[in-house]
Amino acid sequence: MFKKLYIKTYGCQMNVYDSDRMKDVLKPLGYSPCDSPEDADMVILNTCHIREKAAEKVYSELGRLNKIKNNKIGQGLEMILAVAGCVAQAESEEMLRRAPFVDLVFGPQAYHNLPEMIARVSRAKGSVLNTDFPTQAKFDYLPEVMVGKEGIEGASAFLTIQEGCDKFCAFCVVPYTRGAEFSRPAADILVETKRLVDLGVKEVTLLGQNVNSYHGMGTGGIEWGLGRLIREVAEVDGIERIRYMTSYPADMDEELISAHGEIEALMPFLHLPVQSGSDKVLKAMNRRHGADQYRQIVERLEKVRSDIALSSDFIVGFPGESDTDFENTMKLVKEVGFIQAYSFKYSPRPGTPAASLDNQVHETVKTERLKILQHELNKQQLAFNESCVGRNMPVLLDRPGRIKGQIVGRTPYMQPVHISAPEHFLGTIVHPYIEVAKANSLAGSLQITEQSKNVA
Ligand code: 5AD
Ligand code: SF4
Repeated sequence: MFKKLYIKTYGCQMNVYDSDRMKDVLKPLGYSPCDSPEDADMVILNTCHIREKAAEKVYSELGRLNKIKNNKIGQGLEMILAVAGCVAQAESEEMLRRAPFVDLVFGPQAYHNLPEMIARVSRAKGSVLNTDFPTQAKFDYLPEVMVGKEGIEGASAFLTIQEGCDKFCAFCVVPYTRGAEFSRPAADILVETKRLVDLGVKEVTLLGQNVNSYHGMGTGGIEWGLGRLIREVAEVDGIERIRYMTSYPADMDEELISAHGEIEALMPFLHLPVQSGSDKVLKAMNRRHGADQYRQIVERLEKVRSDIALSSDFIVGFPGESDTDFENTMKLVKEVGFIQAYSFKYSPRPGTPAASLDNQVHETVKTERLKILQHELNKQQLAFNESCVGRNMPVLLDRPGRIKGQIVGRTPYMQPVHISAPEHFLGTIVHPYIEVAKANSLAGSLQITEQSKNVA
């Protein structure tokens, strides 16, 4: 029986990976993806809890979807409405109370049970709730990664190797929504990497909420850290590029840092959130690193890989942040230099320790600081992009552009590059000459010879 599945994914790359796996799990049940909830027999909202008012936004989206569901019921049709991800985990029973028309609420650790949950929905009257935390079970029961419209597309893929977080930064909901740290066994990760290569993947991004705290069982019966795991992934024939995210500064150990100097496939670009440049604020945030420790990590990385570049996350206006604290953040930004960054005003998340602190920073101060910080970060990003003009850069072409005849790929530094090239170049690494730098992308050109035109 053919059915249509619509998944809307919010938030981080881990959710993108989870949504793809949900499609894999549901494929044997006859579900294939579609592009709008109106066409769907099942709608899944794969939610993220990290942004402000995340739960409220999900409830209003659910209100809209309920109208579509009721329309369908009016026409004698059905629609299963499911909420997955971190908001589902955090809201749990509350979601079934506030939105009783939702059929399924399940957390990030439960989606391997989707077939069973769907069977329960059609058998039972009422909704199904599954927000337990048995991480290993999920990975064991997931089907193999699939190819085509329903699975991995293109030359770049995500691979979740670690989940959860034990760090408990005072502002963050992740330890509550994703649960305790868990690392997948290396053997499983290597098998998945090989399968991805067989499906045409050349670049793999190893994912985890706290990816560099990876400590999974190695193939020889002892635990491996991320540095060791990357070495083994790099040995898989056909893997040309490796990335990992998101990392925690205090977990950048020697083995991982030296991997950056020794493994060519490991891209010279690292997302390493620092959050603040003030030791006082970092301590209040319950971060296990200071500003100088961060600087030292960057220095050590640059020593082994001189072309490495960094991106980061910043929070301004954490409770108690003074002008001097903020100046220290600006000082760190100017000293380290970031080629890309995400920056946010602190906003209290219910249930996290920082939300109940009484020294909250005024909104106007946060707005002003964010403006100053983003101005500097944007300037650094543009300067880096401009420094690429006039160079030939390796670009993995992984998707067609919006304009016909155009293909888009990524440099080692994740900058999107638009080039004109024949479609059969998709999935290859080329070395275009970079001609134009914009705030968020580059444009380049290929010297296409008669010989390369024939490359299949
Ligand atoms: N307020 C503002 N930013 C936050 N982040 C996480 N929680 C909060 C919060 N309560 C930001 C952090 C993190 C990124 C994913 O989101 O910078 O690294
Ligand atoms: Fe959240 Fe990252 Fe801190 Fe874990 S390390 S609590 S995921 S900000």
